[in-house]
Amino acid sequence: MPISQPIGIFDSGYGGLTVMKEILQQLPQYDYIYLGDNARAPYGNRSFETVYRYTLQCVEWFFEQGCPLVILACNTASAKALRSIQQNDLQRLNPDNRVLGVIRPTTEVIGQYTTSKKIGILATRGTVNSGSYTIEIEKFYPDITVTQEACPIWVPLIENNEHNSPGADYFVQKHLEHIIQQEAGIDVLLLACTHYPLLLDKIRKFLPDGIKVISQGEIVANSLADYLQRHPGIENRCSRSGERTFYTTDDPEDFDAHASIFFGEALHSKHLNL
Ligand code: DGL
Repeated sequence: MPISQPIGIFDSGYGGLTVMKEILQQLPQYDYIYLGDNARAPYGNRSFETVYRYTLQCVEWFFEQGCPLVILACNTASAKALRSIQQNDLQRLNPDNRVLGVIRPTTEVIGQYTTSKKIGILATRGTVNSGSYTIEIEKFYPDITVTQEACPIWVPLIENNEHNSPGADYFVQKHLEHIIQQEAGIDVLLLACTHYPLLLDKIRKFLPDGIKVISQGEIVANSLADYLQRHPGIENRCSRSGERTFYTTDDPEDFDAHASIFFGEALHSKHLNL
């Protein structure tokens, strides 16, 4: 058995770092490995089959590194691959390990933020088309109306460091206006893509007062803390040396140059050839 048994955190690229940052604030004692599949990002417009295949390959790699628990810190992967991995692959790969996503923990609590009972979901095309948010929110809060808006340009803008440019204003405003016009009375907008917190300032600038914008990082971190408390069998297997290791399937220098914007501090990644 490997000595280090880190918690794995996965995203198609950089977005999962916004979640990892919050997890580290709450649970700094554990070891973590982050993997960004930058070479194949973005996942947002890819088919179910492709997102499943890529995500499964990454989960297998995390298990080989000794991770007892992997968090898919990517809504697109959570929407398109998580259920299949849990139902079809976990038993074969390692039935004692666990893979968790970001959609369930978010939908469990999202109802607490709305008074109008109208929520808007901003996400990638893949997440929107999967219907996962609509289905999950209906389970926990059947009286809430969910309106979705796919923002397919937002991730490429962010990944190319153009999110603060004047050109980004057009695309941010366009999708915000569209979702607000679709359903009057929305009082909560959920950033259901882990890249989107980087657009938070711009989003706030173009939104009318009275609409709350919710990012997932803190919600997912709270949920992980709770999960570990309720699952001592998994928690006891997570090693605690405070180590953080970062991998990217693309160029590490490039990753390091971009990653600090998402993570809030400098980091040094290694290359992983998948
Ligand atoms: N960060 C991912 C998410 O939360 C999506 C980015 C992508 O399209 O690859 O959905």
